[in-house]
Amino acid sequence: MISGAHLVRRFFQSLVDRGPDPTEEAWLLGLLTQSEADLYQQMSAADRRHALRSAECPALVNDAQRVAAALHDVGKARSGLGTLGRVGATLGGIAAPGRLRGRWADYRDHPRLGATMLREADSADQTVVWAAEHHLPLSECSLPRDVAAALAAAD
Ligand SMILES: [Fe+2]
Ligand SMILES: [Fe+2]
Repeated sequence: MISGAHLVRRFFQSLVDRGPDPTEEAWLLGLLTQSEADLYQQMSAADRRHALRSAECPALVNDAQRVAAALHDVGKARSGLGTLGRVGATLGGIAAPGRLRGRWADYRDHPRLGATMLREADSADQTVVWAAEHHLPLSECSLPRDVAAALAAAD
């Protein structure tokens, strides 16, 4: 589940992120199918850095989990929002849920959009489900508890 601390940390990371290290990125791309790699490449540099940092989390025990961790936020690529637009979408969604429109609504809806993109890319069920459910409380996630806990630790 997303927390205020998580949002603040991600905001400040996004200000200083220059994008992923090419060597680490090559490692991650080696775990993805071609269609997953195409989706990954649609993400902003800051989001790819977050994807890589997530995939490298030591709590993950296999490559299937690393792929799910890497692609959980891929739906954000659809909104095309920059850092300030994301802050607006996040705060607007808290203040007036259900009233966001356009790219702001797409940003808030990135779990569902990402899951659809990954399903269309023939990703594994675990990858699709984690994208769809990564903002839910762990108790509501339909993945096995230990898997959901590892993926949440990686986010
Ligand atoms: Fe997310
Ligand atoms: Fe995330």
